[in-house]
Amino acid sequence: MLLIARKALALAHNKTIRLTTREVHCLSSILVSPPLVSLDLPENWVPYSHPPSPVAFEGEQKTVVIDGKAIAEDIRTKIVSEVWKMKNDVGKVPGLAVVLVGEQRDSQTYVRNKIKACEETGIKSVLAELPEDCTEGEIITVLKKFNEDTSIHGVLVQLPLPQHLDEAKILNMVSLEKDVDGFHPLNMGNLAMRGREPLFVSCTPKGCVELLIRAGVELAGKNAVVIGRSNIVGLPMSLLLQRYDATVSTVHAFSKDPEHITREADIVVAAAGVPNLVRGSWLKPGAVVIDVGTCPVEDSSCEQGYRLVGDVCYEEALGVASAITPVPGGVGPMTIAMLLCNTLDAAKRTSL
Ligand SMILES: NC(=O)c1ccc[n+]([C@@H]2O[C@H](COP(=O)([O-])OP(=O)(O)OC[C@H]3O[C@@H](n4cnc5c(N)ncnc54)[C@H](O)[C@@H]3O)[C@@H](O)[C@H]2O)c1
Repeated sequence: MLLIARKALALAHNKTIRLTTREVHCLSSILVSPPLVSLDLPENWVPYSHPPSPVAFEGEQKTVVIDGKAIAEDIRTKIVSEVWKMKNDVGKVPGLAVVLVGEQRDSQTYVRNKIKACEETGIKSVLAELPEDCTEGEIITVLKKFNEDTSIHGVLVQLPLPQHLDEAKILNMVSLEKDVDGFHPLNMGNLAMRGREPLFVSCTPKGCVELLIRAGVELAGKNAVVIGRSNIVGLPMSLLLQRYDATVSTVHAFSKDPEHITREADIVVAAAGVPNLVRGSWLKPGAVVIDVGTCPVEDSSCEQGYRLVGDVCYEEALGVASAITPVPGGVGPMTIAMLLCNTLDAAKRTSL
């Protein structure tokens, strides 16, 4: 801690120094979730002398709605001031490069939102758009250019990529130090291993944990169920919750009796992409629900002809869960806020 304090002093005097991941985290007060390595305590299991008795819920549970939009807004306000400070102190701003392949409408919308968020927070953004039928070689050339560009601190490839492209090969080409999506196998591997600190944690899981902690939810020792095990959400979510000492079960498309497994959970993170998959009866009374699912369902009363719903049947969960994130307005805004955070952290590591 003393070393960090010295470095903080050096920064205050505009001296150029290199910071480790943990130091960047300590010097930044944007997020409330602690650095991962600080969580890795010795694993000494103490047997229960008096097992806790089951919690009794009388009548209907009051459900708190976790306002992801407001929390993301708070984080973005802090990012604006840190970017402004960086510009004043070292004459640089963080830079994010986004690679978009093809013309998939959803991907175009996600990318547009990311670029807009950068503009609103003072982060420089560069967009490389490649045609649907481009080659791996063309994408890799663009990635190498961004990897070498010192004004770019974060590089992401918008997924999914067209079928003919090798996603793993392309993601491997993103520089580890600029992998703000946290999808590089080394960042994912370090997330899985105790005592290791990934340079970046994937944005959606990182946002979910930030929401849980800000909502005052204790993670250590709690039963958590993550529904979905994709590389971009479910898997890193399970790994991250485990780093926070939750007891994590994964439910996926082949799981037998997902309802029963989910009902055991104090914390449910749903990321299956199946509208209203999780019914009220799947939830233990008092469970905390984080709904990552974002599923368009037809609705002629909406201007676009559809509306977005989550994986969790929201109306049924109200009155059973103790807290829940809405869709939209829950996890979505946090994902973008974490991308901005990761880009800022990347810039701090190199620019200070
Ligand atoms: N809010 C955000 O910021 C954000 C970010 C990323 C993804 N999402 C949303 O999260 C959802 C999941 O995204 P993804 O990219 O991980 O999807 P994916 O299709 O890659 O993975 C879905 C996972 O869910 C599991 N699954 C599918 N059907 C299931 C079922 N009936 N029961 C149990 N498990 C089942 C599959 O085994 C798979 O592991 C989507 O709705 C997506 O739009 C939201």
